[in-house]
Amino acid sequence: MLKFLLSIILISLLLNNSIGNEENQIWKSCGTSNDILKINSIIVKPTPPIKGKLFKIDINGTFNKDVEGGEAKIIAKFNNLMTLYNQTNDLCSSTSKAIIGNCPFKKGPYLHSANFTIPTSAPTGYYSGNILLTDNFNNSITCINVGFNLE
Ligand SMILES: *[C@@H]1O[C@H](CO)[C@@H](O)[C@H](O)[C@H]1NC(C)=O
Ligand SMILES: *[C@@H]1O[C@H](CO)[C@@H](O)[C@H](O)[C@H]1NC(C)=O
Ligand SMILES: *[C@@H]1O[C@H](CO)[C@@H](O)[C@H](O)[C@H]1NC(C)=O
Ligand SMILES: *[C@@H]1O[C@H](CO)[C@@H](O)[C@H](O)[C@H]1NC(C)=O
Repeated sequence: MLKFLLSIILISLLLNNSIGNEENQIWKSCGTSNDILKINSIIVKPTPPIKGKLFKIDINGTFNKDVEGGEAKIIAKFNNLMTLYNQTNDLCSSTSKAIIGNCPFKKGPYLHSANFTIPTSAPTGYYSGNILLTDNFNNSITCINVGFNLE
């Protein structure tokens, strides 16, 4: 369960404010125009995620400078009440790498695909998270809020 949650949150680290206005959008930027990672497009299927089904994400973005490392500050809550997770992780940790791709990140185009199956045992409810991703110089890479209902 925690791994699923971390996966969805870590993937969402990469998302920014130019995702579009889809009604079922589960991500929202809390970053600024100075963020290091700009997103060109993102395809998430299905939206929202469904238990027992494959969840697929395709990201097309651009890093405006090299990122050698940094930190990911993550808070996750269940039904807005229970804190499931509250930690600061190394951006280049193996957990992060498995999901967001190779670290360090090079200036230029960034394409990444990820997929995973949502456990049927995941509790039904509202999942939300806040993520702040920074580089080694404490510059913001991106900031994101995530929220979705899992039926
Ligand atoms: C990524 O997005 C850019 C800008 O919209 C586009 O030019 C490029 O073709 C896209 N790359 C892929 C592989 O979809
Ligand atoms: C997360 O941890 C930080 C530092 O320990 C603490 O200040 C903050 O209140 C915590 N947030 C939540 C939602 O638990
Ligand atoms: C899921 O990801 C794996 C590893 O990247 C890839 O080999 C596989 O084709 C993907 N499956 C789907 C259905 O996209
Ligand atoms: C990073 O920047 C944030 C926001 O500007 C600040 O609150 C935080 O204390 C800084 N952290 C470090 C380690 O300098």
